[in-house]
Amino acid sequence: MKKQLNKIAKDTNIFLKKYINSQKYSQLMSPMKYGLFPGGKKIRSKILIDLGSLFSIDYKTLIIVGSAVECIHAYSLIHDDLPCMDDDDIRRGKPSTHIKFGESTAVLAGNSLLTLAFEILSSPKLKLNEKIKINLIKKLSECSGHLGIAGGQYLDLSYEKKKISRNKILEMEIKKTGMLFSFCCAAPAIIKKKTIQEIKFFENIGSKIGLLFQIADDLIDLKSKSKEAGKKTGKDQKKGKATLINLIGYDDSVKYCDKIIKDINKNLRKYGSKSEKINETLDYILNRKK
Ligand code: IPE
Ligand code: IPE
Ligand code: MG
Ligand code: MG
Ligand code: MG
Repeated sequence: MKKQLNKIAKDTNIFLKKYINSQKYSQLMSPMKYGLFPGGKKIRSKILIDLGSLFSIDYKTLIIVGSAVECIHAYSLIHDDLPCMDDDDIRRGKPSTHIKFGESTAVLAGNSLLTLAFEILSSPKLKLNEKIKINLIKKLSECSGHLGIAGGQYLDLSYEKKKISRNKILEMEIKKTGMLFSFCCAAPAIIKKKTIQEIKFFENIGSKIGLLFQIADDLIDLKSKSKEAGKKTGKDQKKGKATLINLIGYDDSVKYCDKIIKDINKNLRKYGSKSEKINETLDYILNRKK
């Protein structure tokens, strides 16, 4: 699992480096690369590849789609760390982009990574027909905007220091984190021109995986050491973030995660042994230390 994750991370970074370096030079390239490389775990690309294997989609195609996702993810982290949001100085074991380059540059580098994702999906490097590309771009923009990451981040900030119901917390976590996973699970079905129902089925699995991922991230914030996590931990409590852990406690949150995993496995059973890889990834998501 770890070996495959490292290979995916390496291949994604190779593609992104080549892509950016082939563009005309700009001064924003440096902060963009800083936020993007060496980068994090690339777990979203791993999910894309796990799901892609259900439909035997070629690896190179999935790496390019995953690279677009990782650009959006890196943008969301750069903005998440800004003083007007979570105000975090450390990301991926080094100073956050705004600490290194200043706030306005971090905002602009983030914006540029967001749009780079759509440039990549529409580029001739991605060998898919135009209709499929438009469908991927449509889905990824929906997952990133006000009904996805941006909308979820808005809720996350507006819920600080308030008593928020469990359903509202789940909705917020699904939007800010789940929707990008939702795209990763739906993309292979979109590429294979599956029915709307089947695409929806995978979107739903993706939002559950994303929810699991965010609850696990909240557990890391509570239990892990900053050094190990590569970012400051213990901050959710201080900031009064509305998390499931704050509401129902650590043990019940872990139980809730087990329930989500069982539920996803049950849903994927019909895909037989090909879905076993996903099982392994879910286990990693829940038990990771960073
Ligand atoms: C952190 O995401 C932010 C959340 C959505 C919880 P990751 O844990 O995937 O961050 P990296 O990419 O590995 O640094
Ligand atoms: C971030 O959630 C979710 C995003 C969409 C960026 P967090 O604020 O919990 O992520 P970390 O803990 O800073 O990585
Ligand atoms: Mg945040
Ligand atoms: Mg944060
Ligand atoms: Mg967190």
